[in-house]
Amino acid sequence: MNYRHAFHAGNFADVFKHTILIGLLDALMQKPAPMCYFDTHAGAGRYDLRGDEASRTGEYSEGVLRLVGVTDPPPALRRYFDLLDSINDGAALPEMRVYPGSPLIAACLLRAGDRATLCELQPEEAALLRTLFARDARIGVHQRDGYAALAAMLPPKERRGLVLIDPPFETQNAEFRAIETALGNACARWATGCYTVWYPIKQREQTRPFHRWFAGTGMKKVLVAELLRQPDDSPLRLNGCGMIIVNPPWQFDLQLEALLPILHRHLSLGGGSWRVQWLARD
Ligand SMILES: C[S@@+](CC[C@H](N)C(=O)[O-])C[C@H]1O[C@@H](n2cnc3c(N)ncnc32)[C@H](O)[C@@H]1O
Repeated sequence: MNYRHAFHAGNFADVFKHTILIGLLDALMQKPAPMCYFDTHAGAGRYDLRGDEASRTGEYSEGVLRLVGVTDPPPALRRYFDLLDSINDGAALPEMRVYPGSPLIAACLLRAGDRATLCELQPEEAALLRTLFARDARIGVHQRDGYAALAAMLPPKERRGLVLIDPPFETQNAEFRAIETALGNACARWATGCYTVWYPIKQREQTRPFHRWFAGTGMKKVLVAELLRQPDDSPLRLNGCGMIIVNPPWQFDLQLEALLPILHRHLSLGGGSWRVQWLARD
């Protein structure tokens, strides 16, 4: 396991994933009943954009920094900007130093009665998470395999909530198959949960079997959002990425249709595209 998210924090894939995550959490929190957030691959939770790792790749300059100058952002993007401002003590986008991982985003948005379960296999990353949330009683950190934890810990007692599956994809095709197994088991235990899965797009053919898998599961509502920042014709580049959303909140497709053209306009490296499509809909 070599992957360290600190090298990639704030890149275009994070912008895409985290704005969608915010939209999902906000939509679920429209209802007053408590909810649970489950992060199977949590990372360190918080990243220093001036730190050694992020500086070495500079990926955030092709990601979050490209959003400088967005005017009239849709709600999820507005919330993303507000959250970046607040964790950077008001420092505006180009000067910001701290980039939030999915656990910190969730912690900022969740209410007093909500709960989060964070799984992270890497001991150093899990230790950082523990330190970050040491004083937050809503949040449990587990240094364990996120897929196994899903099987063991669902359904949550709240019976409402969101699962984020965001693996490193060090083993391309095997990771897709691991997600299918974990998600199939999770949905069998908790059919009404909302699940979202991030995946990379290098060449289109690699994602087709994954999409076909959903069509064969009998899941009733499955939405996919994809953002390509350049043509998907090279197996060596991260040309784009996608998110699957199982049981999305009502009219979430419309939110995505407002968000993705703006992300594409600002994050494209030339060409590319975006799309929102139902893989299953009852
Ligand atoms: C893409 S990063 C997560 C980023 C994070 N979700 C975010 O948005 O800020 C993937 C993380 O999964 C961890 N990881 C790898 N395999 C894992 C597993 N089987 N279970 C839990 N965590 C794992 C890696 O150490 C890495 O920190």
